[in-house]
Amino acid sequence: MTDDDTGTQSLYGRLDPEQVGAFGLKVWQYKQGELVSLMIHLGDRLGIYRTLQGRGPVTVAELAEASGLKERWLLEWLRGQTAAGLIEYHGAENGGEPRFELTDVGAAVLADEEGSVAFAGGAFGYPPSHDVIDGLAEAFQTGVGLSYQRLGPCAAHRTERMLGPWTRQALVPRIIPALDGVEERLRAGIDVVDVGCGGGVALLSLARAFPASRFVGYDPSEHAIEIARERTREAGVDNVEWRVARGEDLPAAPTFDLVVTFDCVHDMTRPDLVISAIRGAIRDDGAWLIKDIRSSPRFKDNLRNPVLALLYGFSVSACMSSALSEPDGLGLGTLGFNPVVAERMVREGGFTRFRMHDFEDPANLYYEVRP
Ligand SMILES: C[S@@+](CC[C@H](N)C(=O)[O-])C[C@H]1O[C@@H](n2cnc3c(N)ncnc32)[C@H](O)[C@@H]1O
Repeated sequence: MTDDDTGTQSLYGRLDPEQVGAFGLKVWQYKQGELVSLMIHLGDRLGIYRTLQGRGPVTVAELAEASGLKERWLLEWLRGQTAAGLIEYHGAENGGEPRFELTDVGAAVLADEEGSVAFAGGAFGYPPSHDVIDGLAEAFQTGVGLSYQRLGPCAAHRTERMLGPWTRQALVPRIIPALDGVEERLRAGIDVVDVGCGGGVALLSLARAFPASRFVGYDPSEHAIEIARERTREAGVDNVEWRVARGEDLPAAPTFDLVVTFDCVHDMTRPDLVISAIRGAIRDDGAWLIKDIRSSPRFKDNLRNPVLALLYGFSVSACMSSALSEPDGLGLGTLGFNPVVAERMVREGGFTRFRMHDFEDPANLYYEVRP
């Protein structure tokens, strides 16, 4: 094949069509993923997964009746979900209607937000707005990214629902008891601060479990603190307060017996300054619990992670972007606060004891740090 009268062969003409086809399929599967994500968003938002949970195989008419949604729309959605491997299809038997089923395993991932650590449906909120996408494209030119505040209220809700299930179900029963002496002190009554508290899931779980202790949450995102305040009102909890403030703004004098930072040090523009501020604000016999992304300092090792591209997508669109949202940002990003960097930075910040915990959380590692 030649291009008009130049005599040169087009790029496509020089390539093995099978290889191009296979690469094209890989790319189209990402487009498929985008649209399946939208379908998951609709299924979560309209309560379809929750309606399907525990019902076994249902006909479209039964699902329409139970959900109050239109049959034709449900049929198209169910067929698409079957094609995506998320819903099981039972073909028409003995002249009956075909049936669709959300299995118990599927329900644990897509429906059971309160009871399952594996719940993932909360990650499928609204996609980023045009304004955010334009801001990200601009950031590649200016170098300066978007803070969590700039990502808007939908992103704060998505973060809360995405990170909430594990925190709600593992923090009090599994994680706190593994820390040296912390549970007893929480029971007796101590001062606790959550730096980068987001929508407040962690602090509210602790505040409910340990009514004798006092809790304060710091986060610079007004959207996140608004969610935390709303959840506090709903829960009727009175031993917790919230501040729109950064970790850098912690009191300079020793004030807290326990500091927690969950999934946020790698999002901070100056984690080094926040670590120094935490050192100043923690009492000498206090403890700092860090939860951060499970990662290795070696990119090659991380390539074994089957969702590595997802993590880099989070990084460019949220974590690294936030960590570069000021011109002097260090820009650690989603995988940047790995165990090697974490230990080095907390020791440089004046902490002397560093212990890693692995609670088999597939996404995170935990560090118990002491002055
Ligand atoms: C991924 S969210 C995690 C929220 C929460 N800890 C959770 O587990 O749901 C990261 C949070 O870090 C906050 N953040 C970013 N820079 C910060 C800073 N300098 N000080 C305190 N929080 C910060 C963001 O506003 C955002 O709410």
